[in-house]
Amino acid sequence: MAKRSLCSLPLVLAVIIFSVCDSEQHQSSEALTLMRITRLLNFPTVSKSLNNYTDFCNFEVNSSFAVSCYEGNITQLHIIGEKPAPLLPRNFSIDSFVTTLVKLPSLKVLTLVSLGLWGNLPGKIARLSSLEILNVTSNFLYGTIPPEISSLTSLQTLILDDNMFSGLLPEGLGSLPVLSVLSLKKNLFNSSLPSSLSELESLRLLGLSHNHFYGELPDFSRLTNLQVLEVGDNAFGPQFPKLGKKLVTLVLRKNKFRSSIPAELSSYYQLQCLDVSSNMFVGPFPPSLLSLPSITYLNFSGNKFTGMLFENSSCNAELKVVDLSSNLLTGSLPKCLESDSKNKVFLYASNCLATSNQNQHPLPFCHNEALAVGIVSDRSKRKQASKAALALGIIGALFGCVLLFGVIFFVYRRMNANKTTKKSPTRSVTENASSGYTSKLLSDARYISQTMKSGALGLPGYRTFSLEELEDATQNFDTSTFMGEGSHGQMYRGQLKDGSFVAIRCLKMKGSHSTENFMHHIELIMKLRHRHLVSALGHCFECYLDDSSVSRIFLVFEYVPNGTLRSWISGGHPRRSLAWTQRIAAAIGTAKGIQFLHTGIMPGVFSNNLKITDILLDQNFVAKISSYNLPLLEENMEQICSSSPGGHGVSSSRCVTSSTGARKKDDDRTDVHDFGVILLEMIKGRQVKYEAQIEALEDQLQVALTADDEARRSVVDPRVKQTCLDQSVKTMMEICLRCLRKDPSERPSIEDVLWNLQYAEQVQDAWQGGESQSSEGSPVSPSQPPRLTF
Ligand SMILES: *[C@@H]1O[C@H](CO)[C@@H](O)[C@H](O)[C@H]1NC(C)=O
Ligand SMILES: *[C@@H]1O[C@H](CO)[C@@H](O)[C@H](O)[C@H]1NC(C)=O
Ligand SMILES: *[C@@H]1O[C@H](CO)[C@@H](O)[C@H](O)[C@H]1NC(C)=O
Ligand SMILES: *[C@@H]1O[C@H](CO)[C@@H](O)[C@H](O)[C@H]1NC(C)=O
Ligand SMILES: *[C@@H]1O[C@H](CO)[C@@H](O)[C@H](O)[C@H]1NC(C)=O
Ligand SMILES: *[C@@H]1O[C@H](CO)[C@@H](O)[C@H](O)[C@H]1NC(C)=O
Ligand SMILES: *[C@@H]1O[C@H](CO)[C@@H](O)[C@H](O)[C@H]1NC(C)=O
Ligand SMILES: *[C@@H]1O[C@H](CO)[C@@H](O)[C@H](O)[C@H]1NC(C)=O
Repeated sequence: MAKRSLCSLPLVLAVIIFSVCDSEQHQSSEALTLMRITRLLNFPTVSKSLNNYTDFCNFEVNSSFAVSCYEGNITQLHIIGEKPAPLLPRNFSIDSFVTTLVKLPSLKVLTLVSLGLWGNLPGKIARLSSLEILNVTSNFLYGTIPPEISSLTSLQTLILDDNMFSGLLPEGLGSLPVLSVLSLKKNLFNSSLPSSLSELESLRLLGLSHNHFYGELPDFSRLTNLQVLEVGDNAFGPQFPKLGKKLVTLVLRKNKFRSSIPAELSSYYQLQCLDVSSNMFVGPFPPSLLSLPSITYLNFSGNKFTGMLFENSSCNAELKVVDLSSNLLTGSLPKCLESDSKNKVFLYASNCLATSNQNQHPLPFCHNEALAVGIVSDRSKRKQASKAALALGIIGALFGCVLLFGVIFFVYRRMNANKTTKKSPTRSVTENASSGYTSKLLSDARYISQTMKSGALGLPGYRTFSLEELEDATQNFDTSTFMGEGSHGQMYRGQLKDGSFVAIRCLKMKGSHSTENFMHHIELIMKLRHRHLVSALGHCFECYLDDSSVSRIFLVFEYVPNGTLRSWISGGHPRRSLAWTQRIAAAIGTAKGIQFLHTGIMPGVFSNNLKITDILLDQNFVAKISSYNLPLLEENMEQICSSSPGGHGVSSSRCVTSSTGARKKDDDRTDVHDFGVILLEMIKGRQVKYEAQIEALEDQLQVALTADDEARRSVVDPRVKQTCLDQSVKTMMEICLRCLRKDPSERPSIEDVLWNLQYAEQVQDAWQGGESQSSEGSPVSPSQPPRLTF
């Protein structure tokens, strides 16, 4: 073995050049290892050009395949595939691949990018004890990061971006003494961060964006080298993280931060990029940030920042982008930001600034909202008010507002006044929805979450319909438009003037109530708009002429044309069957709908008694929940009824004697159980109707889970078993079983369910190699051959 050291360049981070000395006769096992690696990776062209006589130490086919040595041993290996890389075939084994890799014990730098690697990264990767840089971006590695990684004491850079890693980060990561770059972006990590991360004193860059991390960030104030912290698109919060002062880039966008911005941020003299957009930050916007000496990019949009801007504020001359839109700012535009320069961007729409530009709200809007998000000087008052709101549910919510604003006291009195109160004076049938209600106040308050705002896709705005309009739409409620009847009234299909179809539920009222008595229900219904709910489009009151009390209420819902989910799963039509990917998509849609019902509105709507027949599919096979615990009706408000709007004659209507306001501890887990039953039917492709049946199928799934993938597949609906990936099936079965647990507290949260489903979807999509998605639009007929054959 030759040991002439003609070239002893120091190994510098990310420097790839290592020249090599005579390795002509260097015939170590390393050459064979390299050849084996290229073969395992399906690099036929490269492996052909490699043979026993190749000077592999100087082997560089092109930038995407390079090897470097030091004194005859391979120290660097860079293999970069084309993007997007197809998954390596089924007979690929990450385990034997890593076993081969570790035969290169001198490896310090390992780049395996876009190679289609898939599987659980084995812990034995830690046998590469000299490893300094590991970059496996854009592969399909899943499971958790092996804890053994913490024994790689030389590791400086760990980049696992764009894979499918999930679960917890190993506690031991925090003990890596020289780790300076840790980047885990675009994975499926679903945990809080280990506090040990706050001990990584060498850390320069921490990238965690696009995951499902949650909880508070650890205390980073001791990480004096930290320059880049990117944690966008997670669920971190609510407190602003504790940070060191040398930060250059701080990205907190799209999380759940709800605190205010700490004052010390104004002393971060190296800060160049600050993005806190799309959170729920409150408190005053600190204008001093505009004049930080290094700042170039500031994005504060989509929060609840308050306070005044002044014309005379000063700004750093290098400032390129400032986005303050969608906050509650008042005052006038700082002169220093208004520039005609093309390469400067200043956005400030949807505030209450004194300018006619960019769509400003009237000043009271910001004041009211600021009150609603709790920016009042008297904190104790606010606490009391919000406690009251929680306790009293819908009515209480209204009550809370009354306390805060004192505006709608009148309405409140009416709703709670005893039944003998005299009715409201004459009121026309077509009362005007856009005025009069408290909706403005309510929707401005904190009750409406971001999910709700973004969820109502492509629907016309909620409005009041006139009775004439509904009569026209249904040809005077002709029997041909009749869709079904439940205990609370009939369902009609109608076509509006603009050609769109709607489903109209007609509810007969007993007793005499003025329209105002229903307003708070209507308020709630207005908010129940989401892509995955059959959403309300409007309502119409029909009143008696004599005393103007309400005789009928019409609720107008979107019409969902494609029938129930069951009809596409187990309905017995041979041609109607959803493909596996469509089933996952429908499951995700349903779960999102449930999530919205639970968390998208305040107070949440729970115990919806969901059935597979309550899930409807629209023309694009988007799943929509048609029956939810809709609190309307009943002069006595103790009984809250769920009525089933929308679509295809499904019109069950049932009463649940529970109050939406006071929720029990595991209320949300009842829906999770119902969802489990729906999943079960989607996996099995057979109708599930009785409790006993559920248990039998549960057992079957339980056994299948621990069996091998062939056995597992045999349990799945035969019409999809050819096209589903085992990893995906397994995930679906697992989550299904967890949903069905007897003890509600053992059932997963709806968020957990959603993550698992999305994981199942991603693995499946990845497996299908991003081929054209025929899933949107027409369902794949069962006879269609599987897209991939292994
Ligand atoms: C390369 O070496 C292996 C084992 O050392 C040997 O079996 C093989 O024949 C050699 N190939 C060539 C092309 O010399
Ligand atoms: C590098 O070479 C390999 C093997 O010849 C080839 O498949 C790949 O497309 C090349 N990549 C680039 C970027 O030229
Ligand atoms: C090269 O590898 C061999 C065998 O693994 C080892 O004994 C030797 O010390 C390595 N040389 C260097 C310079 O690391
Ligand atoms: C995997 O299968 C392909 C063909 O299906 C074959 O060419 C390749 O050698 C196999 N790889 C391994 C590691 O067995
Ligand atoms: C890791 O790989 C990605 C993708 O090729 C590349 O953009 C990035 O610069 C690499 N990072 C390091 C430190 O090599
Ligand atoms: C600020 O952030 C929001 C959301 O995170 C984004 O939509 C917007 O484009 C950003 N503004 C600028 C100017 O980059
Ligand atoms: C800017 O103007 C406001 C009032 O318009 C004034 O109160 C404040 O002192 C001024 N600040 C500076 C730095 O001139
Ligand atoms: C995270 O996701 C994995 C895989 O989907 C799942 O097994 C695990 O229970 C999840 N963990 C948490 C805390 O949600």
